[in-house]
Amino acid sequence: MVFERMPLEIWFDKYQFEVDYDIGESGMKYLSVKDLGIDLNEIELRYGYHLGNPELRAEIAKGYRSLDFENVAVTTGASEGNFSVIGHLVGPNDHIIVEHPTYPSLYQIPRSLNRNLSLFKLKWDNDFRPDMDELRRLVRPNTKLITLTHPNNPTGSVITEKELKEAIEIAEDVGAYLMVDETYREMMFETPPPLAATMSSNAISLTSMSKTWGLPGIRIGWVVADTPIIQAVRAVREQVTICNSSIGEAIAKAVLEKRETLLKERREAMMANFVVLKEWMDNQDWLEWIEPKSGVVGAPRLRRRGSTDELCQLLVTKYRTFTVPGSHMELDGHLRIGFGGEHEELVKGLDMLKQALREIHS
Ligand SMILES: Cc1ncc(COP(=O)(O)O)c(C=O)c1O
Repeated sequence: MVFERMPLEIWFDKYQFEVDYDIGESGMKYLSVKDLGIDLNEIELRYGYHLGNPELRAEIAKGYRSLDFENVAVTTGASEGNFSVIGHLVGPNDHIIVEHPTYPSLYQIPRSLNRNLSLFKLKWDNDFRPDMDELRRLVRPNTKLITLTHPNNPTGSVITEKELKEAIEIAEDVGAYLMVDETYREMMFETPPPLAATMSSNAISLTSMSKTWGLPGIRIGWVVADTPIIQAVRAVREQVTICNSSIGEAIAKAVLEKRETLLKERREAMMANFVVLKEWMDNQDWLEWIEPKSGVVGAPRLRRRGSTDELCQLLVTKYRTFTVPGSHMELDGHLRIGFGGEHEELVKGLDMLKQALREIHS
C-alpha cells in the first residue's frame, strides 16, 4: 500500500501562491475572519467532540429534512469524510465504482489502499452526463460503494432526480452504498436534486464549507448518513485527526446560522461571473466546451485537440494566471476554469488566457 501525491494537489501547491490571477480554483473567493465579523476570543482551544460540536451538527442537520444531528459527522473537510467512508466500507475483497472525472482523492484513495476500482466515466459525447446503463454494467456482486460527484468537478455536469433514484436502486440491488459528493450543490443554477442521504438509508451525502462558503482554510466538512456509517466515520477519524479544529467549528456554525443571507450574495456573484465566462467562451476561437450546468468550474478543451499542459504552464509562468491542466485531473486535452473568484480577477485572468491561447496558436 503506497500513498502517492495527487498531480492536482502538486500543481496547486507549486503554483497557486505564485500568480496574480487565479481562475483555476474550484470554490468561491476565500473569506477572512475580518469579512465574517466573528469574535474568536472566547473559543476554548481544547479537544472537541469526536463527531463534531453537537450544536454545529444540529445546525447542519436542519438542511437535511427528516435527519437529525445523530446522522451528521463533522470532518476535516470533505476530504476526511471521503477517506473515512471509503476506508470503512471498501475492504480488500470489495469493489468500488467511482464516477470520473472528479476530485482525484475519490479514486486515489481506493488506488492507494489497493482496492478493486472501476471508473464510471462521464463522456464528452454524452455531454458529461452519467449514463445509468453503464453504471448498471459496472456493478458486481461484491460492489460495496458507488461514488458520484454532482454538480461535478471539473465538468459542471448535474445529475437529475430520476438518475439519482436509479443510482440508489442500482446500489441497493447489490447491497452497496451510494455516496454523493455534494460539495457544489448550493451553487446550483437551478433547483438541485434532493440530498442523497434524505432519499435512502443506503445513500450518503458529503459536503464541505470549502467551496460555496469560501472557507477551505477552516477545514470543515461533513458526512450525513445512517448512524452506523456515522459511527464508522468516528472510528476512522479518531485514528487520523481525533476531532475538528475548535476555531473551524465556531466559524462554520456562525456562517451556517446566517446561511440564507450569505448564500444569496454568493449566488449572485457566481451568476454574474458565469455570464462573463460564457460571453468570453462565445467570443474566442480556440476553446470549446460543454457548458457547465452548475457549480463554479467548467472544463473546456482545445478545438485543435491535444494536451493543455503547454498552455497552462505558459499561463502560470509568463502570464501569472492559474488554471488547472486537465492532465492533472486525468482529463488531458481539457483545462479547468473556475469562475467563483472576484469579478475583476476573472476578467483579467480570461484576458491573460486569451493572450496565452493566441501565443500557442501563432
Ligand atoms: C468534489 C470535491 N470533493 C472534495 C474536495 C475536498 O475539499 P475539502 O476537503 O476542502 O472539503 C474537493 C476539493 O476541491 C472537491 O472538489
